Amino acid sequence: MSIKVTVSPTKEQAVKAVAAEIAALIRARAAEGKEAILGLATGSTPVVLYKELIRLHKEEGLSFKNVTTFNLDEYYGLPGTHDQSYRYFMNTELFDHVDIDKNKTHVPNGMVPQEQVAEACAKYDADIKAAGGVDIQILGIGRTGHIGFNEPPCGPETRTHQVKLDELTIKDNARLFFHGKIEEVPTSAVTMGVGTILDAKKVILLAWGENKADIIKRSVKDAPSEMCPASWLQQHPDTEFVLDTAAASKL
Ligand code: GLP
Repeated sequence: MSIKVTVSPTKEQAVKAVAAEIAALIRARAAEGKEAILGLATGSTPVVLYKELIRLHKEEGLSFKNVTTFNLDEYYGLPGTHDQSYRYFMNTELFDHVDIDKNKTHVPNGMVPQEQVAEACAKYDADIKAAGGVDIQILGIGRTGHIGFNEPPCGPETRTHQVKLDELTIKDNARLFFHGKIEEVPTSAVTMGVGTILDAKKVILLAWGENKADIIKRSVKDAPSEMCPASWLQQHPDTEFVLDTAAASKL
């Protein structure tokens, strides 16, 4: 199966259609009295999408009252109140600005005692299933080819689990966040597995800028492999890569 690729000149233009698709899903489900289930991502990439969703809420009356969310991942050892935790990120970048019920927003718990992590991960997968499965999963991509925090090597069957972070990821995330301090970046995380991600009905991976061009090419063109976890998306029936011109420049 080949991945559908949509290229726009800028990220602002690129996310318009994605936000419109999410809005259409939310409104269609609301009309049926049902929940829309969104899989959400963190990192710098989806911020522009969340800005557009907030605009749709404030200017076009899009309500998030019938939305349930499941985030991909969380740093292990950071409480949700820590300004570098993904729970904090989601609250400040999206949830605090729309009318979503925070009780229906799920982010893996990075503070579970080590001996209870496996059980908490299994429950996260079970909760996604019980909610009816993810309708639209938003993804970014790391330069190692990771989706969520599934670092290479990673097979397509993995479920929510704890992972050790790659050196490049720790460096990239210190550069962008963590006040640039590498020693502050946690060394492990809890993440949905690739298999968990592949269960979503639709997957939309976003990528901007030239420094993602190589890994985008590997993910789309090379045979799926454990060494590039994003390449497993080629085996998903409805995956779209939404790129700006720079990220698509090596395709
Ligand atoms: C983080 C997140 C990923 C994200 C990636 C890319 O490590 N766990 O979900 O896709 O980094 O980050 P950015 O969007 O800042 O390039």
